Amino acid sequence: MSVPLPPLLLVDDEKNMRLSLQSILADEGYTVDAVESAEEALKRLAKDQYFMVITDAHLDGMSGYDLLAKLKDQMPSLPTLMITAYATPKLAVDAIKSGAVDYLPKPFAPEELFHAINRCAERYKLIWQNAALRHQVIEGYSLDRIIGNSTQVQQLRQLIQTVAPTDATVLILGESGTGKELIAGAVHSLSNRRAETYVRINCAAIPETLLESELFGHEKGAFTGALKQKSGRVEEADGGTIFLDEIGDMSRPLQAKLLRFLEDGSFTRVGGNEELRVNVRLIAATNRNIVSAIRNNEFREDLFHRLNVVQFRPAPLRDRGDDIPLLAGHFLKIFAASLKKPPAHLSPAARQRLLGHSWPGNVRELKNVIERAVILAPDEEILPSHLPDFELEARLRGDEKFTISTNKPLDEALSDYEKQLITQTLERNNYSINKTAESLQVTRHALRYRMQRLNISNDPNAEEVPETVGQED
Ligand SMILES: Nc1ncnc2c1ncn2[C@@H]1O[C@H](COP(=O)(O)OP(=O)(O)OP(=O)(O)O)[C@@H](O)[C@H]1O
Ligand SMILES: [Mg+2]
Repeated sequence: MSVPLPPLLLVDDEKNMRLSLQSILADEGYTVDAVESAEEALKRLAKDQYFMVITDAHLDGMSGYDLLAKLKDQMPSLPTLMITAYATPKLAVDAIKSGAVDYLPKPFAPEELFHAINRCAERYKLIWQNAALRHQVIEGYSLDRIIGNSTQVQQLRQLIQTVAPTDATVLILGESGTGKELIAGAVHSLSNRRAETYVRINCAAIPETLLESELFGHEKGAFTGALKQKSGRVEEADGGTIFLDEIGDMSRPLQAKLLRFLEDGSFTRVGGNEELRVNVRLIAATNRNIVSAIRNNEFREDLFHRLNVVQFRPAPLRDRGDDIPLLAGHFLKIFAASLKKPPAHLSPAARQRLLGHSWPGNVRELKNVIERAVILAPDEEILPSHLPDFELEARLRGDEKFTISTNKPLDEALSDYEKQLITQTLERNNYSINKTAESLQVTRHALRYRMQRLNISNDPNAEEVPETVGQED
């Protein structure tokens, strides 16, 4: 990647020095803007782009040291070089302390100066390249990647465009596979923070005990295994955006800390006392039913309201009609190309089957189905035989409408069905009583009662949340 080099800014109150440096540097191919005071330099830096600043230590008005200290604070990635009158170790230390990348004692040979400037130019290029790379990663997320012509998707794209440039907190609620991650990425990449860091944390994938330290960092010795101090991901995201995926799985104690963080960006590392502060935009997503999580006391209502400044609700795929074949066509192109096969298309019967399916796994499921079909199809036409047996899958999942094929008495048949339904739902939810009750839309109390009656035992490792007295039933 070749990086164009903007001019360098020279600050010196001696006119002769300015003129002679300007001319030898011009001979070396550098463009130089020269000013006589730190105040003037700050004005220029606010307006124009420079790859580095060279300043004399002693200036009328604000000194070179003060200028560098200010720049270190305001433009920490701008390389700086200080020219000092005398080479004493004390001055060198002062220069470096004020934030100079390098310093040069007078008098110096032009080669020494070129050498120092070259190092700064290299540094500038590296920083620039890093930022550009980061930008490329983020550009992977854009509105164009959200495929769909349905009204729901058009409105979604519109809302992303409206909300992205604000700093508003965003909450994305939708079933699994509806594109929540794509939406979060698009919000960041269309925001004014797009050149800054985008940090994504999956709250469900990180063990409960480590999530807090992942988010907010820890001090050395905060817990067994905390051998060194570690900064949190919120610090990494300073100036940028943090995406907390699966926020519905965050523990209540951590929810309280997150709430405080959302109030004013302040937090303390695990095991630390110092209050730190960052400027981060937050996007959160969950596929859980947040309302029933609040009702079950698993999610703080105040946090919900704080997150819920702007809400996105990507629609389930089954409600998006013609987006199904449209997305299928999109994935057909992608997978045919990546598997080095000729472009494939859906036969009318295959298209019909896709339209008839309920897509519990939404776009992710469709993507997998199409990948499999492209692998199985011997030529360009995708036939129903290349698609999964959706009905069989549904029956295995246990979400198929019950087909009555029994000659047992009604009560017994109903109990059998009830038992099968509860057992399968428990399995699907890793034996979490809360999630199973949520999914079956009954209270935990009612679920336990039925399990007892039907003699369904709970998994010994099951997660248990204490009941809240008088909250439900
Ligand atoms: N509208 C869309 N256009 C193109 N691809 C999409 C769209 N929606 C989702 N996808 C793709 O489907 C897959 C699942 O999307 P994503 O990971 O964003 O879902 P999710 O809502 O975050 O799911 P989960 O709740 O399971 O984390 C991804 O590969 C994504 O690129
Ligand atoms: Mg996701």
